[in-house]
Amino acid sequence: MSVRSQTSGRRTLARSVASRFPADSPYAQTSFVALYDRVRPKPPKNLVGLLSQLSGGRSPRVVVDLGSGTGLSTVVWAPYASRVVGVENNPTMLTHPRPAANVAYRLASADATGLRSGSADIVTCSQSFHWMNARATIAEIARIMRRGALFAAYDYVLPPIVDPRLDDAFDTVLDWAGLTPRRPETETYLRNLHRSGRFRWVRSAAMEGRETGDAKRIIDLATSLGAVAARLGTAKGRRAREWTRFTRIASETLGHARRPFWWTYQTVLAMK
Ligand SMILES: C[S@@+](CC[C@H](N)C(=O)[O-])C[C@H]1O[C@@H](n2cnc3c(N)ncnc32)[C@H](O)[C@@H]1O
Repeated sequence: MSVRSQTSGRRTLARSVASRFPADSPYAQTSFVALYDRVRPKPPKNLVGLLSQLSGGRSPRVVVDLGSGTGLSTVVWAPYASRVVGVENNPTMLTHPRPAANVAYRLASADATGLRSGSADIVTCSQSFHWMNARATIAEIARIMRRGALFAAYDYVLPPIVDPRLDDAFDTVLDWAGLTPRRPETETYLRNLHRSGRFRWVRSAAMEGRETGDAKRIIDLATSLGAVAARLGTAKGRRAREWTRFTRIASETLGHARRPFWWTYQTVLAMK
């Protein structure tokens, strides 16, 4: 496992990082990044299977994961691909990226990866495509994909399904933090990919993931959302009615018991 920094555009990247992640942003703090890595879900195995099948039915040689974060969505490919590259533009996310022998990380922007044209069999954006400049990133994705390669942008819907009361309390916290609880991006992804004219096949799919967790995990999960963490950064935020109700309901419905967390992954597929 290695972390490389793209020489070209490094200054532009540094400027954009400083403006997007000022020192007081949760995403500039290693403790927040460690929490993120511990509690966010890993992509489900069936998604890996589907993408491998569609990209040719054999083990992919090169998988590129754009907006790789701490590598949760990158290392899942390590047992299946010859080489995996995570591309991430926030250096704090790459402080301790998840390691694997055939995985390398690049500090670069998804729209200027520095990777060879036609080199990727699979390109993924897990929970990251909505952050990126659509036009420039789609052009870069199409450039690095070989013909017949597959691109997948997938996002999990928050919260995972665990319990109706908890669902409602989590939604209230999202609303309090100014976050959209459901995922409206799929239609935009489809439209942008279609309109780019760079792909011969584009469609959406829904995949399912299952993990387990207790009250602490669901509370940590909510805390791992940047906007929620920012609100909780003050004593007033921690005492907010929405937050205390959510943590109380999490303790009442889950406590220390581990229960299934059912995830829905809204997925958009595009073949070059
Ligand atoms: C919500 S995180 C998802 C991380 C990881 N893929 C996962 O599934 O856990 C989104 C990541 O995309 C990164 N990101 C956003 N825009 C980017 C860009 N233009 N180039 C590279 N990374 C980007 C962010 O810094 C962040 O680490």
